[in-house]
Amino acid sequence: MSPREVPTTAFTDQRPGTSGLRKKTRVFMQPGYLENFVQSVFNVARGDAAGAGPARTPPGDAFRAATLVVGGDGRYHNREATAIILKLAVANGFGRILVGKGGILSTPAMSAVIRRRGALGGLVLTASHNPGGPDADFGIKYNVKNGGPAPESVTEGIYRESRGLRSYLTIDRAEVDLDREGPTRIGATEILVIDPLADYTTLMEELFDFRALRGLFTGGFHLAFDAMHGVTGPYARRIFEEILGAPEGTVIHGVPLEDFGGHHPDPNLTHAADLVLLMAAPGAPGLGAACDGDGDRNLILGPGFFVTPGDSLAVIAEQAACIPGYSKGLRGVARSMPTSTAVDRVAAALKIPCYETPTGWKFFGNLMDAGLCTLCGEESFGTGSDHLREKDGLWAVLCWLSILVSRGEGVEQVVRGHWRRFGRSYYQRHDYEGLDPAAADSMIAAVRGRLPSLQGTSLNGMAVLHAEDFSYTDPVDGATSGRQGIRVLLEGGSRLVGRLSGTGTEGAIFRLYLEGYRREPDAAVAGAVLAPLEAAAEDLFGMRRRLGRDRATLVT
Ligand code: G1P
Ligand code: ZN
Repeated sequence: MSPREVPTTAFTDQRPGTSGLRKKTRVFMQPGYLENFVQSVFNVARGDAAGAGPARTPPGDAFRAATLVVGGDGRYHNREATAIILKLAVANGFGRILVGKGGILSTPAMSAVIRRRGALGGLVLTASHNPGGPDADFGIKYNVKNGGPAPESVTEGIYRESRGLRSYLTIDRAEVDLDREGPTRIGATEILVIDPLADYTTLMEELFDFRALRGLFTGGFHLAFDAMHGVTGPYARRIFEEILGAPEGTVIHGVPLEDFGGHHPDPNLTHAADLVLLMAAPGAPGLGAACDGDGDRNLILGPGFFVTPGDSLAVIAEQAACIPGYSKGLRGVARSMPTSTAVDRVAAALKIPCYETPTGWKFFGNLMDAGLCTLCGEESFGTGSDHLREKDGLWAVLCWLSILVSRGEGVEQVVRGHWRRFGRSYYQRHDYEGLDPAAADSMIAAVRGRLPSLQGTSLNGMAVLHAEDFSYTDPVDGATSGRQGIRVLLEGGSRLVGRLSGTGTEGAIFRLYLEGYRREPDAAVAGAVLAPLEAAAEDLFGMRRRLGRDRATLVT
């Protein structure tokens, strides 16, 4: 078992996006592709382990005292990739490697393991809610000491390393039985196969009143949880069915599959169609919920009722004091810029700060580490708190169950109560997928050019109060991130936001976010309130003219 230095040719496309490096699975299956990226991560992490910046020195003993965590969402290529990473990690001299049994760890569980076991970092194998399979998507994300995705300074360092990489270190064989918990020693490295459910479940027991939740289920409450054949199936079975006593069958699509059963494991009204049907039928369960492939996103439904992610965040903020982990109150809240402003109004009422960050969970990490914010969320079905440094799907479901117990009300009643108190943000996201990247770029560039002269004019008859390309200065480390999305504020509290996706693997994706505010919510459906805003967006961006698209590919 002596490390071998293998010469390699650098790949030029290994720049991590909104959430790690995501590519077609076959790209990752090319010889050297994963190896190069992982070696680049280690080269950057070595500086971190030694308490300095990125190091170019040979591995030496830098990782001798360090722990690395490895696991993924179980998609196609997860096992093979895990085996490759273990060999590189041993060769690079890690003292300890923790790997989830079967190569499995949900994204939030990865964050929990890193934090609870004082690891240097972790590699998560996932392309989140993107489909899996040999012709679908794969991905890898590096999480740092605080349990969260590596900040941009680190991901840019990894990208720089990857472009100049000449060799990687590996060993010939790492004989580890991934399906048996326990230690294996290879040279100076201990590889420990751990129960992927344990740390996460304990953390949930610490935050929530499990006794009260058990009471809810013994009282006959009915939950339908759709794991979408992703990684949360086993977590949900353990927590809802085994510990909280929900009846068997509460978890549907609970067996993790390499291709997620051929579906997009994306918990929204389109892709979680079975759950949506179930929740629309007579006699629907009191709560319907779903998580994505790697377990960090969530969808919340009541009987015949959809809770938008923006409302879900706002309601959790409003009601958080009923949960033991948050009974002392919230320090602050944060949302990504495109996310609805519903939570801002709750923060104002609670007299706590509300931070507005660029898209991507990594921006919340600094705020939470500095104790500035407790709760955060994104419109893309992501909600979480400072218990971890990732968004957390099952945690959000436990929050909702706790709220239902404490209020003794149904999902719709709780949300309508929120609207009565704060008014309602009608909200939709329209995705235009598979675009020609050049056309998408030139559309954004054209709108950017118009921004300075937009204020004071009107779009589809609505006055423009403010127009900008969002830029963010991190209040903790002062880092700035520019060009984070076009934001136009219209009269009456309406907003139009447009940006290009940073997670797509094919062509470009334009995301258009529409928000209309009503202080006195009537029975109006979102579509009717938002139609004039959609027309205003057509005026501004010109999706028909510039992208040749009459309508969005997906509306959530
Ligand atoms: C999308 C979402 C964003 C989320 C990210 C990772 O990124 O919009 O909120 O953090 O996936 O789950 P995008 O493709 O828009 O860059
Ligand atoms: Zn995800």
